[in-house]
Amino acid sequence: MSYTNDLDGRAQLCRDVILSAGALVLEGFENGRAADFSMKGPQDYLTETDAASEAHIRQRIASAFPDDSFFGEEGGGDIRERVWVVDPIDGTANFARGIPHFCISIGYVEENVAKLAAIYNPALDELYFCRAGEGATRNGQPISAARTARFDMASVELGWSTRIPNAQYLEAMTRLLDKGANVRRAGSGAMALAYVADGRSDAYVELHMNSWDCVPGLLLVAEAGGRVCPFFEIGSLQTGGAVLASAPAIADGVSDAVGIVLAEPLGRRERHHAA
Ligand code: IPD
Ligand code: CA
Repeated sequence: MSYTNDLDGRAQLCRDVILSAGALVLEGFENGRAADFSMKGPQDYLTETDAASEAHIRQRIASAFPDDSFFGEEGGGDIRERVWVVDPIDGTANFARGIPHFCISIGYVEENVAKLAAIYNPALDELYFCRAGEGATRNGQPISAARTARFDMASVELGWSTRIPNAQYLEAMTRLLDKGANVRRAGSGAMALAYVADGRSDAYVELHMNSWDCVPGLLLVAEAGGRVCPFFEIGSLQTGGAVLASAPAIADGVSDAVGIVLAEPLGRRERHHAA
């Protein structure tokens, strides 16, 4: 398969490779290889399928676009002007324990501007995809962030890791609960961001995420009409940063509760016609 050396070609490759990696990951899940896990650190699961998925994605991108750089969760890489940011399995703890809530997350970024995002849950065969400026989709159908305007109707997902002290998460959770929100934790930050884009969840907050976990999901939420933090200003591809994504009507309240700032919302014109 050959791809044109432009954003159209990269969009096509992005969709193709996330589906083929999804088939590989699902095969590992269904054939019991997921249960054969090791630990990279406290609460940090690793399976052979994580490495196999990343190697597959890395090889296909390198062969189609040899001048693009690649930054992945398992093998690292380098970050140049054009970079693919890849999580080969997000929600590895779910994957390893037989819970079908995990995904592959791929973003394409040019000079610190996210241009393409794809998140795929192979167990449900749900592919979230967007190009900057063209709106977000699930399996080709347009999606929108929820219209939820009341905290006593809102479901907010909070993620955490050992990278930030527990007390800070507990404070964020208390403040969200005090506002009346239902606070959940489903174990895949990338999937959680796709669910905010899809209106299945009202917000996602995590005080630190790595870029492969959040850059694709943040673009999906912005393209679906949600509000997001200015990730490239408050964090970076190399170091990660704080993450907030929300349905628009409760975004200011979530931001106040957890102390993460919001970017200006994308205008209608930018969302639907920007390059
Ligand atoms: C983790 C998950 C988790 C989030 C962590 C991530 P992994 O990624 O997305 O929900 O809270 O910050 O590191 O280990 O499943 O790829
Ligand atoms: Ca991850």
